[in-house]
Order: sequence, then C-alpha cells, then structure tokens
Amino acid sequence: MPMSEENLNNHPKVLIPEVKLQARITELAQEINHDFQGKEVTAICILKSSFIFFSDIIRKLEFPLTCEFLGVSGYSSKIVSSGEVKITLDINDPLENRNVIIFDDIVDSGLTLAYIMNSLRARRPALIKSCSLLMKPEGLKTQIEIDYVGFKIGKEFVVGYGIDFSENLRGLPYIGYIEHGH
Ligand code: IMP
Ligand code: MG
Repeated sequence: MPMSEENLNNHPKVLIPEVKLQARITELAQEINHDFQGKEVTAICILKSSFIFFSDIIRKLEFPLTCEFLGVSGYSSKIVSSGEVKITLDINDPLENRNVIIFDDIVDSGLTLAYIMNSLRARRPALIKSCSLLMKPEGLKTQIEIDYVGFKIGKEFVVGYGIDFSENLRGLPYIGYIEHGH
C-alpha cells in the first residue's frame, strides 16, 4: 500500500505499545541518572519530532537541568535523508563548558544527528552525549556513536509519539508503522 492520505484515516499498526515505550524510557532515564549524578546538564530537545519523548524523559531525570530546543528540518519531504538540515529554531543560551545531552527521535542514516553534533561541538560544551529513542541500524551511513538508544528497529516507516508522516500522526501514544509500497 503506498503512503497516501488514505493511510491517515486508518490507525497505524502498533510497533511499540505505550507500556513498553514508557518502561524503556524509565530504563534510559536510570542509565542517564547513573552517568550524570551530581552534574548540571543542558538537555536539548530536537524539534519537532522529539518533543513528546523529551517531555517524558526529562521528568525522570534527577540532576539539575536546563532545557533548550533546537529546531531542525530536512530540506525536502523525501524519506531518504541528505543529512543537510535547516535550523528552524536555534539555541539561545551558550553551551560553552556545559554538559550537554541531545535527545532525538530516530537515527536512520545518522547524517542528521552527525550534523547536529558537529555544529554543537563548535560551541565547545564540556561534554556532549546523545540519546535517541529509536535507531534503524540497517540505515546507518556514517560512523556515529549514540550513547543511549531506546529501541533498535527495522526499516519500517514509523509514526506517533511525536514522530510524523508529513506532519500528521504525532499525537499517537504509541510507535506505529506505515507500510509503504515500492
Ligand atoms: P537520518 O538523517 O537518516 O538519520 O534521519 C533522521 C531523521 O529522519 C529523523 O530525525 C526523522 O525526522 C526522520 N525519519 C527517519 N526515519 C523516519 C521514520 O520512520 N518516520 C518518520 N521520520 C523518520
Ligand atoms: Mg526528526
């Protein structure tokens, strides 16, 4: 079935149910709490798709943190990422000497996160770590270390929990998937 407006009228199939999602986010938060004990952190939410994940996970973090929002969008609506991203909202506060954790939704080719990490490294944070809710290991096109990964998934196109299909379906409480034709 090709991806089309017809798909928007159906409920996407469930890939990761809400309960499993929340349980894994609790585990991720525990790992991060362990590593960042006693530190002060700037938590960066990559907009738009990470906003729900970010709001859930930061409520489970137990060290002092400030929140920043970095808006990025690909240059086209094509599914394959070029890795070249447009900054739609920049971070106001300096990152110099800060402990930074970036929260992202999905790493597919890895090009988007690599681009973001490189541009943030130029701001000379003391430490920069990355956390992605989802990762598609088969899609990786660049060497990138992701410090915290929620779930490794296959090649399916996922939606929900903040993640969109042409700006739709972000409000689903679970991670669903849409089958697309070739
Ligand atoms: P990458 O640069 O190939 O790693 O692409 C990462 C970005 O592409 C993610 O932050 C998403 O915005 C988008 N993306 C990748 N896979 C999916 C998907 O299955 N559903 C929705 N967006 C996706
Ligand atoms: Mg995204």
